[in-house]
Amino acid sequence: MTKIFSCANMIYLDQAATSHPKAEGVGEAMFFYINNVCANVNRSTYAPATDAAIHVLETRELLCELFGLEDPTHVIFTPGQTVSLNMVIKGFLKPGDHVLVSPLEHNGVMRPLTQLLEHGVSFDRIPLCGDDELDYSAAERLIRPNTKFMILTHASNISGVVFPLDKASEFSRAHNIALAIDAAQTAGHHPIDLKKTPVDALCIPSHKGLRGPGGIGALLLSPSFASKLDPLITGGTGSDSHTEIQPTYMPDRFESGTPNLAGIYGLYAALVQLKNGKVASRRARETVLLQQFISGLDQIDGIRQLGTRDLSRRVGVISIDCTAKMDNAEVADALSSKYSVLTRCGLHCAPNAHKTYGTFPQGTVRFSFNSSNTADEIDFALDALRKILK
Ligand code: ALA
Repeated sequence: MTKIFSCANMIYLDQAATSHPKAEGVGEAMFFYINNVCANVNRSTYAPATDAAIHVLETRELLCELFGLEDPTHVIFTPGQTVSLNMVIKGFLKPGDHVLVSPLEHNGVMRPLTQLLEHGVSFDRIPLCGDDELDYSAAERLIRPNTKFMILTHASNISGVVFPLDKASEFSRAHNIALAIDAAQTAGHHPIDLKKTPVDALCIPSHKGLRGPGGIGALLLSPSFASKLDPLITGGTGSDSHTEIQPTYMPDRFESGTPNLAGIYGLYAALVQLKNGKVASRRARETVLLQQFISGLDQIDGIRQLGTRDLSRRVGVISIDCTAKMDNAEVADALSSKYSVLTRCGLHCAPNAHKTYGTFPQGTVRFSFNSSNTADEIDFALDALRKILK
């Protein structure tokens, strides 16, 4: 490493890609594991290994508390959101099955599904209607006898629009379809309570709204779905070592190999910060920042904003298309190189979402906030945009 660039002195508005800064205590917890604990779990019984195992269990319990899941054995640690989605999609679907998705899915969902087209799986996209809502009447008409699964992003990584979980949960239950939710943009940003809105598979990353480290994610499964899901990865679990057959009990059925323990220690520290209703207060603050940004954008000519104006159905993600005045990539480049405002430009791994919003192939400049951003940063970014587009 010859040169260290840091986001610390910049205006970081790319929270949808990964959070910055991480929650208090995350770095220290990972450092502590690597330097002090450094033991594996589920294999040996000496004290550091047992301590690490307790830490892992407590992290499962914190996730249950945060998301309203009853059974900590149904929290599966994964290497991240993409692996969680692949596990769910490829472990559940069989040749001949049909799937419903939203038109705003990320490639984390669409690429595994597209890969399965060759194996006899098919899918339909539920269209949008009204003010960025999912058209459940159209979804009814798309259902077939072989429709097994509905996979939805909870919030778009392009427009920030939220698809309410209560409607998705009611619809899937009414039609006896399993429901998986990609909560990449909502976990830690928007309250989720699986007791109120049952979901069969909730996929959550650690490094975005939860403000934990990368390389670790979690899959929260309902018992009935877990019993129907085949493990995508099998191997050593430290349990049932007398047999070469994968254990059928949870969580071992889905957790082969040494887990990312430094990641789990970091995630634990991040989750501690979210106890006692912190997600709701973070959400309230993000909504204020979003309102401030949207009102400021309204005053700048040549910008098209994507997404509903109903902020009760938005997270702090907003995309703009500036092509009426300037190429979007040039805008994003000027924001970072001249003003140190960091955004993400392009198609955001969600081509069909951009087609849906009419921003394909030019893409958009995406700004994304969390509650650690400030009103001054929003004003600065707006001012920079004004100068770039003048
Ligand atoms: N999916 C992430 C994003 O939208 C990486 O930027």
